[in-house]
Amino acid sequence: MASKEFSLTPVTVEPVETKYRKICTQIPVPESVPMMKKLRDLEPRSMGGQPPVVWHSGSDCTVSDAYGNKWLDFSAGVLVTSVGHGRPEIVKAITDLANQGMYHSYCFPTEARIKLVEKITSMLPAPLARVFLVTTGSEATECCIKLARTKSLRAGKPNKKIIVTFENDFHGRTLGAQLAGGSPGLKDWAGESADFVQVPFPDGFRQADTSFDVFEKSLADQGINPDDVCGVMGETYQGCNATLFPAAYGQALRKWCDKHEAVLIFDEVQAGFGRTGKLFGFMHFGIVPDLVACGKGISGGMPLSAVLGTEELMSMYGPGEMTSTHSANPICSAAAMANIEVIEKENLVENAAKLEAVLLEGAKKIQAASGGKITHVAGTGLVVAMQFTKPGTCDPNPEFAHTMVEKAIQKGVMLFAPVGVGGCAIKINPPLTISEEALREGLGVLEEIAAEL
Ligand SMILES: Cc1ncc(COP(=O)(O)O)c(C=O)c1O
Repeated sequence: MASKEFSLTPVTVEPVETKYRKICTQIPVPESVPMMKKLRDLEPRSMGGQPPVVWHSGSDCTVSDAYGNKWLDFSAGVLVTSVGHGRPEIVKAITDLANQGMYHSYCFPTEARIKLVEKITSMLPAPLARVFLVTTGSEATECCIKLARTKSLRAGKPNKKIIVTFENDFHGRTLGAQLAGGSPGLKDWAGESADFVQVPFPDGFRQADTSFDVFEKSLADQGINPDDVCGVMGETYQGCNATLFPAAYGQALRKWCDKHEAVLIFDEVQAGFGRTGKLFGFMHFGIVPDLVACGKGISGGMPLSAVLGTEELMSMYGPGEMTSTHSANPICSAAAMANIEVIEKENLVENAAKLEAVLLEGAKKIQAASGGKITHVAGTGLVVAMQFTKPGTCDPNPEFAHTMVEKAIQKGVMLFAPVGVGGCAIKINPPLTISEEALREGLGVLEEIAAEL
């Protein structure tokens, strides 16, 4: 379902001024409205879904426009700027390489790529041993699908080609990623493919039974022979509800994949690099997958993604057979290296784990203030999803979610547009650098809004 466009009519709002927020104009800012109208006239409508703020600059957990307003950033872009905006270390990495005259190298080696690949592989638990740097999350998830299918083909099993994913999963917007996704409305354009099969995600809300039995039963109900499955791919926590697989489910899935020789893939485009309070989300389950797709928080802002994989899977394609034009772009690689170093130096994974309780408690208070409009709250580390559904059901009630985001912007808290099933979920996922003080301030603002809904 398309999200509703935010209004471009300026509204007079209460002025706000705190350490983290400043609102001193009408919202949207009248002078910025012609710019946003121009975008609405010149771009596909799909690009017009976010709240009407023209981003101009950023500093740590805040973003500002050019008109004196400042927002406490609960979006991190879209879970990307984990080390905050305007980080000097990332700015330096970018400018140093630009000043060196090195902003593109195709697949020719660069020092930036060597350092990053060495760093990431040093962080991986065995048997993950290799990293393939690409550009977008979709490219990474599609590469995982390709590797799973290639493995079966190379083993002389052409019929073993089914990829199992989860209902409501999101793996990106390109053809393969969208076929793998679990939202029928997003992929009707792609047509049917019997090679992609979905099973319920054990979120404890839309799927009450969170046991692994449901996985096996669902495949059996769909007439799928487990030995025809070449890969299983799941979001480590499902983006639309911020719920991790239960650990026992993850462990059972690992065993099932081993038994049926299916490649186990975790899509950690959101979860990877600390968001869940562990370096990788799968570390909550005490198992290691065969492939991991990473993106977003890997680089702190520049377009870079990665596939992490075992020696066996990563050695199937020969030199030049699995590359892309912008693989390991030197500036993006240097930025990602600086980003990972800050994550380590400032113990940001630990900060995400420490603040989980504050974020969840705050989200529960927002839920309580909403008078029953928020029906489900879940989270892990520094990500929470609050779903608005019709009373006593899982049917989306997106109007209130939209209004809450609009009001948050007016009060100086930056949220991205609602996501998830029918656009009913508000996500809170600030940079991992956020302090408890800033987190509590933003949560308090959202609680006030919830009470006014
Ligand atoms: C879990 C997950 N996988 C894949 C993607 C696709 O990443 P990208 O938009 O960089 O292609 C996203 C993006 O939101 C995501 O959240």
